[in-house]
Amino acid sequence: MQQMKLLQSLYQQRAFGYQYFDDIKSVPFENSDLSDMPSTLTQLATYINDCSLCNLSKGRKHIVFGEGNVHADLMFIGEGPGELEDNSGRPFVGRAGELLDRIIQNVLMLKREDVYIANIVKCRPPANRAPTEEEVAKCKPFLIKQIEIVKPKIIIALGATSYSYLTGDMSGKISRVRGEMINFGTSKLMPTFHPSYLLRNPSAKKEVMSDMLKVKAIL
Ligand code: URA
Repeated sequence: MQQMKLLQSLYQQRAFGYQYFDDIKSVPFENSDLSDMPSTLTQLATYINDCSLCNLSKGRKHIVFGEGNVHADLMFIGEGPGELEDNSGRPFVGRAGELLDRIIQNVLMLKREDVYIANIVKCRPPANRAPTEEEVAKCKPFLIKQIEIVKPKIIIALGATSYSYLTGDMSGKISRVRGEMINFGTSKLMPTFHPSYLLRNPSAKKEVMSDMLKVKAIL
């Protein structure tokens, strides 16, 4: 009888639009450092498969781990997955991705499979907002491990969010810092405009072209 009442009340709540989510689990790697993490990308992807370290995990369809050449000289880092990326589990597959593909092919003269593509966070922020500091703090160690494994010669930070969270320079206006290559561990880092910005401001493509030519010159 008790159970029937509970069930009835749950059905009522569902009818009113309530949804049930598991509590955020404390996962074994909550405080793990880079040396505790697996040393291949495939293992790392499996390692974070059930990640629920931040609230973004509650709304995601897929973790967008990143993809590309494990030994790429060039790594692109965007902000975070959008709707299409969340649906597919792959980075940069929407309109911004089409533009990124054209830059890779027509300016850098490479194929998408030659480079590695990842994001600052691996789960989609709601309504495509920028990820918060807390979300980035939870997710960034996995990205740093990816960088450590791929060891790219050059990292291209796509947009202000990517640049700021990678470097810690939170005051960095992308229009001021873009085009200047800086040291980033054993890699170089080139900040440039995000492809989504280029879709809204096509006249900024010439700046990105100039940034990519600098990258190409030292690849
Ligand atoms: N924008 C990003 O920053 N990353 C993606 O993967 C897609 C769009």
